[in-house]
Amino acid sequence: MMKYFVLIFIIATIVSGCSVKVNAASILFNLHTRSMQSPQAGTSPITEDGPPQPTEVPSSLPLFYYNQTIDHFSKNSGNFLQRYYVNSTFYKEGGPIFLHTPGESGINQIIPTSSFVSNLAASFNGMLISLEHRFYGESYPPINDLSTPNMKFLTIDQALSDFANFIKYPPKELNITKDSKWVMVGGSYAGNLATWMRKKFPNLVSAAYASSAPIEAKLDFFEFDQRIAKALPCAQNISDAFRFVYDPILLSGNETAILGLKQQFGLEMLEDNKDFASAISHPTANIVQNYVQSPDIPDPILSVCTPFSQVQSSSPETSAFIYAEGVKAFLNITGIITPEDKLAKFATTSINTKEKNDLAPYTYQYCNELGYYQTFPKSSPISTRSQIIDIDYYQGQCDFLFPGIPSSPTIKKTNKKFGGFNGKFSKTVFVNGDIDPWTALTVSSESANPKVEKDTIFLIKGGSHVTDFAPPSPSDSESLQEARVFVFNTLVKWL
Ligand SMILES: *[C@@H]1O[C@H](CO)[C@@H](O)[C@H](O)[C@H]1NC(C)=O
Ligand SMILES: *[C@@H]1O[C@H](CO)[C@@H](O)[C@H](O)[C@H]1NC(C)=O
Ligand SMILES: *[C@@H]1O[C@H](CO)[C@@H](O)[C@H](O)[C@H]1NC(C)=O
Ligand SMILES: *[C@@H]1O[C@H](CO)[C@@H](O)[C@H](O)[C@H]1NC(C)=O
Ligand SMILES: *[C@@H]1O[C@H](CO)[C@@H](O)[C@H](O)[C@H]1NC(C)=O
Ligand SMILES: *[C@@H]1O[C@H](CO)[C@@H](O)[C@H](O)[C@H]1NC(C)=O
Repeated sequence: MMKYFVLIFIIATIVSGCSVKVNAASILFNLHTRSMQSPQAGTSPITEDGPPQPTEVPSSLPLFYYNQTIDHFSKNSGNFLQRYYVNSTFYKEGGPIFLHTPGESGINQIIPTSSFVSNLAASFNGMLISLEHRFYGESYPPINDLSTPNMKFLTIDQALSDFANFIKYPPKELNITKDSKWVMVGGSYAGNLATWMRKKFPNLVSAAYASSAPIEAKLDFFEFDQRIAKALPCAQNISDAFRFVYDPILLSGNETAILGLKQQFGLEMLEDNKDFASAISHPTANIVQNYVQSPDIPDPILSVCTPFSQVQSSSPETSAFIYAEGVKAFLNITGIITPEDKLAKFATTSINTKEKNDLAPYTYQYCNELGYYQTFPKSSPISTRSQIIDIDYYQGQCDFLFPGIPSSPTIKKTNKKFGGFNGKFSKTVFVNGDIDPWTALTVSSESANPKVEKDTIFLIKGGSHVTDFAPPSPSDSESLQEARVFVFNTLVKWL
């Protein structure tokens, strides 16, 4: 317990010396004794196949609707209703307003009720608002389906203007005073939005907190796989399986052999070879990206890797067999069991653009403005994915789902507008994880050279994607605990 008391002590000391009235000690104590059963928050990341659905927790938060402008760049375009949740449990008049958005999925109650973000807002006597991003959840302009022409108002600039509009004209019923300070918060793509809000609207946004924000838009994101390989002690085994067993079959053109391979994984329903190759690369990416250390569960990375060192024989064929068994177990554990589940999860042709869902709009966004195509790293000696996963695979998905979309995402324009790796960011606190494959596109990347104030970037040792947003627990690593104190201390300076 000692560690937690020390942490609380540090925070209470810092807080008492500043003008913000906070009850950090009691709230942070509360969070350290929180039950381990809390659902994990903040893991609504950009996965290679799109955002996973958040787990709903029962809560008492009512839903509100904001009357939002459809097109911020023309007059009289009409309005649509944008959903939001509010946690004002610990709010005191004059406290900061934390504006959060999940970005790539609909809003859920986890972040506003039981996460590090809600604790953070509470410890500043702040209000936390979780506002849905346009075209996610139920916050749609009036359109019937997600066909290409209907997506024209799904742009980063429109989304940023939504948040700006909300801050400029906050809902009356929240009694927010004109001089309230606003802090924009987000993880993953929404972390980008947080940094860009502060950049574009410095008069509206006092500070930003960005977790695992891939601020550099990139077409050929081969570093994603390189980082997965680095995080897995058995990457060589998996690489051998792809290089010497799976890929020669996939490239052979022998339909019988290819079908046999698909059957070995229980994925024979995936007709497209690239969809199949992507599906069998998914589990390791998923496990590394969502990696958490907890005494309650076996270490997920060791669970993947131990079997490769427990056998007598050492060969690509043995590795290929072990890996296929591992993928099948993964699919079973994650409930992707029936052929319909597998098609829905992995087949491009099953992504639904006729109904409103969170996967299609996210795909549209990366096809249109962000890229992030998680390709096979051609220049790496080891890789955990098939060499047939290339730029054309992703671009083919874009063209299939959204006919008429630009022939390549407008990466250059996005980076020029917001600065990418070389962006200038003021009063923005960044947290990244050193095993998160997305870290390659964040301010913590070796390629990044952002202009930022001193001590505004924290890299969590053993941290993965948006690890810091989860509700704090006593079993959190020291580095993760330090990250949260760092965020708190940094924001104290600015608020
Ligand atoms: C939203 O605002 C517009 C323009 O101010 C107004 O005409 C419309 O009635 C409002 N809609 C709702 C549901 O409040
Ligand atoms: C608001 O957040 C605080 C801190 O996490 C939490 O204790 C409280 O229960 C939340 N309020 C609601 C209504 O969920
Ligand atoms: C705003 O003020 C009204 C009237 O005083 C009150 O009933 C309401 O609870 C307040 N709303 C919030 C979010 O504090
Ligand atoms: C195709 O693969 C099957 C199964 O591995 C094998 O029996 C057959 O000989 C192969 N055909 C050719 C033309 O290589
Ligand atoms: C996995 O790789 C390790 C290290 O290269 C090797 O010792 C082991 O035999 C490999 N396992 C298999 C099943 O090939
Ligand atoms: C999934 O796992 C359960 C429990 O271990 C097992 O009984 C079942 O046979 C597995 N199903 C498949 C399709 O592998």
